[in-house]
Amino acid sequence: MHDIISILPDSVANQIAAGEVIQRPASAVKELLENAVDAGSTVIELYVKDSGKTLLQLTDNGCGMSGTDARMSFERHATSKIKSADDLHSIRTMGFRGEALASIAAIAQVELKTRRHDDETGTVVVIEGSNVVSHQPASCAAGTTIIVKNLFYNVPARRNFLKSNTVEARHIIEEFQRVALAHPEISFSLQQNGLDVFNLPAASLRQRIVALFGSGSNDKLVPVSEETTLMKIDGFTGKPEFAKKTRGEQFFFINKRYVRDAYLNHAVTNAFDELLPRDSYPSYFLHIEMDPARIDINIHPTKTEVKFDDDHSVYAIVRAAVKHALGQFSITPSLDFEPEKSFEPHLSSSGSVMKPLGAGTARAISPPEFLQKKNEQKEWRKVFEGIRDESLRESFTQSETASQQLINPEWNAELLAENNPLIFQLHKKYIISQVNSGLAVINQQAAHYRILYEKFLRQMENKDVVAQQQLFPQTLEFSSSDFEIIRELLPDLHRLGFDMSEFGKNSFVLNGTPHDVEQGREQQVIEQMIEQYKNNSSQVKMSARENLARSDAKNIAMPSGKILSQRVMKILVEELFACSTPYQSPEGKPTLVLISDEELEEKFKM
Ligand SMILES: Nc1ncnc2c1ncn2[C@@H]1O[C@H](COP(=O)(O)OP(=O)(O)OP(=O)(O)O)[C@@H](O)[C@H]1O
Ligand SMILES: [Mg+2]
Repeated sequence: MHDIISILPDSVANQIAAGEVIQRPASAVKELLENAVDAGSTVIELYVKDSGKTLLQLTDNGCGMSGTDARMSFERHATSKIKSADDLHSIRTMGFRGEALASIAAIAQVELKTRRHDDETGTVVVIEGSNVVSHQPASCAAGTTIIVKNLFYNVPARRNFLKSNTVEARHIIEEFQRVALAHPEISFSLQQNGLDVFNLPAASLRQRIVALFGSGSNDKLVPVSEETTLMKIDGFTGKPEFAKKTRGEQFFFINKRYVRDAYLNHAVTNAFDELLPRDSYPSYFLHIEMDPARIDINIHPTKTEVKFDDDHSVYAIVRAAVKHALGQFSITPSLDFEPEKSFEPHLSSSGSVMKPLGAGTARAISPPEFLQKKNEQKEWRKVFEGIRDESLRESFTQSETASQQLINPEWNAELLAENNPLIFQLHKKYIISQVNSGLAVINQQAAHYRILYEKFLRQMENKDVVAQQQLFPQTLEFSSSDFEIIRELLPDLHRLGFDMSEFGKNSFVLNGTPHDVEQGREQQVIEQMIEQYKNNSSQVKMSARENLARSDAKNIAMPSGKILSQRVMKILVEELFACSTPYQSPEGKPTLVLISDEELEEKFKM
């Protein structure tokens, strides 16, 4: 038999290697931006079409390349940034592998135009799927323009794997934000489909954060600055009261490179101690400068992970620096987290329901007066007559439809014991309730999440939800990426009771909110909801509407640890059993455990 092993042609090897470096348009954006930064550019312009699927174009005013280098730049392992293995210990550039352009050229149609500042003519190289189509002199501006068309045109599997334009555009914006935050001294712009998304002049880090995340972010920042022999740390952390329910604006830069590091993140969170509301995450924008010899950045193909030779010291310094910053700005005394309260609503003199929920939650459901009556399930309509919260009433009455009972016959409200006096709270977390043939242990948070989720889904299908009009309409400003998402979701947000319309760059005017949004917290509520929404859409595939219902519901569902009154517990149990899928949270986690009489009897068998 003859030999069977052969070396793969370069184009195939490049395509395989590209899979590691370029997973989506945003990875190409990251590589191109970093090359422009390494070239010493002071102005970098990015143009994106169809979320980078059809076109990415980046122009810089950096050092440019010679004709030969322009061609060489597409070879694998071709780099001007290191010469030997020793150089790996002193890297200050973003690139060093010499793989990015070779990878991009293997899976796209690429045109590179470049000229060094002292040269009279420049060069154009056209390369498609690793094959050079043309390479010739050309007149062009000093610096480099690189155009990447039809990414993954020759890797259909990868192309099909790409997510919707919104998701891919968001990844691009995230990469862009990271590089822009790493280098505030460079001017950056981003255009998508002909529209300006960012125009960022050279600035300080604070100005850059404000330019990216909206003017509201200015007041939320606490400066961090510390210098030791090992490292220097500079930047900002967010005030604890602005902490988000999901990880959002968390940025670490090491020698100007964005890195993801759970250990460092822990150091920051730890510095906040008990200042953070439960289940929330602080924002931070922290730059660390240290001797490159003390870090290894070559441990991950996309260079977003690092290894420190003395990680314990780095951890301690980061933690101390953040703690010091929070202390210096006397964050602690100004904190005003609401103490634990009963979930019971308070009725104001005007009769409207006030918000009882504590820190981290913006809205509470407004439970109606629960009338103590025998035979409650059969008299639901009567029981809930005259309540103020129309939508709540609707959720009760709808639950009685025959179709719902058919979907889940064994879970409908008939399960509840006729008269249900036996209901109590366990560990401020669970509700124990007697049901017809045993008992139910209900997780209060998951149950509330399920109830609200179904309510919001219904609301979005129902066209005539009325928002509670604000006395004074207010303008809310968001980051560009959030603005884009909110714009797409406007019709559904409207149905949830957020009456808002576009109002200039990155802003909306808010005319009305759902009745249970606390005044003054509107922006925060919407931001938290969108954070959650973004988190969901990058993890699981679901419709925008479902995602929004989940995000809104999760955002405002009561936390565990909340003391509940008998009345509220009853309402929650009733409402849960009225849901079409009462036994699971929208994420599929159990909301309740049933223990049947037989099981109990079995356990007590002599
Ligand atoms: N915008 C640019 N301006 C000037 N030179 C550039 C530019 N982009 C790329 N180059 C040159 O092309 C070379 C190859 O770029 P490429 O991104 O493939 O590798 P790298 O940046 O050296 O390493 P890495 O793969 O880690 O990014 C660079 O080393 C640099 O010399
Ligand atoms: Mg590079």
